Amino acid sequence: MPRRRKKKYKIRWGRFLTVLLVPLLLLSVLFFHFTGDAFQDKLTDIGYTKEEITYLKKNLSVENLNLLKEYEHLSYLEDLLKTDGYKEENFSSYLTYIENLKEDYDLANVVYLVNENISYPYSLKLVQIVQHPYFIRERLDRYMAYQEEDVNTIITNVNSNLDYEFYTHMMPSDTSKETLLIVNKFYYLEKDYHYGELVTMEKAYDNKNGSKLNQTAYEAFKKLVDDAEKEGYHIRNNSAYRSYETQNNLYNDYKNSNGLTWADKWSARPGHSEHQTGLALDVGVKDEYVLGKFETSKEFPWMKENAHRYGFILRYPKEKQYITGYGYEPWHYRYVGVDVATYIYEHDITFEEYYAYFVENK
Ligand code: DAL
Ligand code: ZN
Repeated sequence: MPRRRKKKYKIRWGRFLTVLLVPLLLLSVLFFHFTGDAFQDKLTDIGYTKEEITYLKKNLSVENLNLLKEYEHLSYLEDLLKTDGYKEENFSSYLTYIENLKEDYDLANVVYLVNENISYPYSLKLVQIVQHPYFIRERLDRYMAYQEEDVNTIITNVNSNLDYEFYTHMMPSDTSKETLLIVNKFYYLEKDYHYGELVTMEKAYDNKNGSKLNQTAYEAFKKLVDDAEKEGYHIRNNSAYRSYETQNNLYNDYKNSNGLTWADKWSARPGHSEHQTGLALDVGVKDEYVLGKFETSKEFPWMKENAHRYGFILRYPKEKQYITGYGYEPWHYRYVGVDVATYIYEHDITFEEYYAYFVENK
């Protein structure tokens, strides 16, 4: 039997291509051609020039280009794209932010506010707040809620917690900050806390007997006293470390003798005194115990101008009583180390302000 010849199906490639692929290709070309044109037409309709469209097509993703169809002609686009800090992923947020503005604005500020994810309505005050050198992002709501016009005051006061009443919103002091730990009318210490090792002061540095101070602070104080002596100034300790109990007695004596307001002006409540850290001391002239007399001594101007070179700050300055919550104490110095003391001295800020910006969340 003759073998049946199998019928061969030969694929005719040429024909296949013509019939199937060529029309497909044509269709897609036409599709893109028309949609492209429609897009271009739309932008032209809105009022964009040819040059603008070319520029935008070159610099924006298709998604962002499409977004433009929802707006009238936006004359600031090219400037926006050239603004420092501009990020394409924030493009739609910039547009929303700008289109909702009722005030004059600066593109650089808009870019900054959007990049920082700040959702408050644009205002000059907002911009000044977020661009203030001591602005703290986590405190934005508190700055905005603070009833005050001057932006410097807002930042200083909120950073110092003055939007709260003293002795409210109390927080345990973060003692891991070591020589930069803060103690004030908001931050308190545990009853038996003091920082590091306490050492007994030698008589040559102490108007009293057996006062104690943190070792690091004491070394710095000795150097200060020795250098001052060489120049003819006789500085001594009058009160250094004070335990919780000692502070408690002192505060209660003040309160019983002169009332609550006076006591709170001149004494910390127990647990809230820097003296408990071992890092602070009240100074005086040799053999002069009355704290109030230090201000008029020749030693005071020397101390005021030089303490920072040994790591000490005048902790309760005259002009900052509303921040520290204490009366002016020319005699009270706190050890924070030379670099920090120098910064605080040169910038004329309080430890409260320094702590909030440079220490708290670092
Ligand atoms: N006199 C300061 C404020 C204190 O009692 O710690
Ligand atoms: Zn003191």
